[in-house]
Amino acid sequence: MKILLTSSSKHGSTDEVAAVIAERLQAAQIDVETKRPEDVDTVDDYDAFVLGSAVYMTKWTPEAVDFTKRFHDALKAKPVWAFSVGLSGLPKGKVSDPMRIGPVLLALDPEDHMTFAGRFDPSRLNLRERSIAKLGGASEGDFRDWGEVRQWADAIATSLHDDTLTGGRERP
Ligand SMILES: Cc1cc2nc3c(=O)[nH]c(=O)nc-3n(C[C@H](O)[C@H](O)[C@H](O)COP(=O)(O)O)c2cc1C
Repeated sequence: MKILLTSSSKHGSTDEVAAVIAERLQAAQIDVETKRPEDVDTVDDYDAFVLGSAVYMTKWTPEAVDFTKRFHDALKAKPVWAFSVGLSGLPKGKVSDPMRIGPVLLALDPEDHMTFAGRFDPSRLNLRERSIAKLGGASEGDFRDWGEVRQWADAIATSLHDDTLTGGRERP
């Protein structure tokens, strides 16, 4: 069983979440390949997918959305987990608008979608990004909850192992 984990990140916080997910899956003896969505040309070799994107202006990145469109049919046929990393408009590090990514997720119909709180570090951003984030009410800080990330990854591993035991799964 081979899993593709895609991570779309502008400033690294989503990549770091993806790295922890990959680590946990590997620790559970699952073969994981991590890529940027725009670098993927074919998904034929994979049995399941974990797709992650940072949220900017209420949306997944264009590269992450494009990936879900390019491989729509293949993704519908295999188990998919999705996660978003964001935190705009939050006074206290809670993600404000996970539902706005709705159309992408509805089209994917994932086993599960998780929204993780991300990081707002103005020193990493340009002036425009800083202003938008401030206008959205973001507070400075790293709100990522690594325990929550590990727990989510472990649940995926358990589900994949259960599938292996029952002979895998193709979605109807
Ligand atoms: C310009 C800008 C716009 C953002 N818009 C949103 C948003 O609409 N919703 C949200 O939940 N988080 C938003 N965020 C917060 C980012 O998603 C958060 O900082 C995330 O950790 C960034 O991930 P990355 O480091 O992988 O790029 C925004 C941040 C910036 C700088």
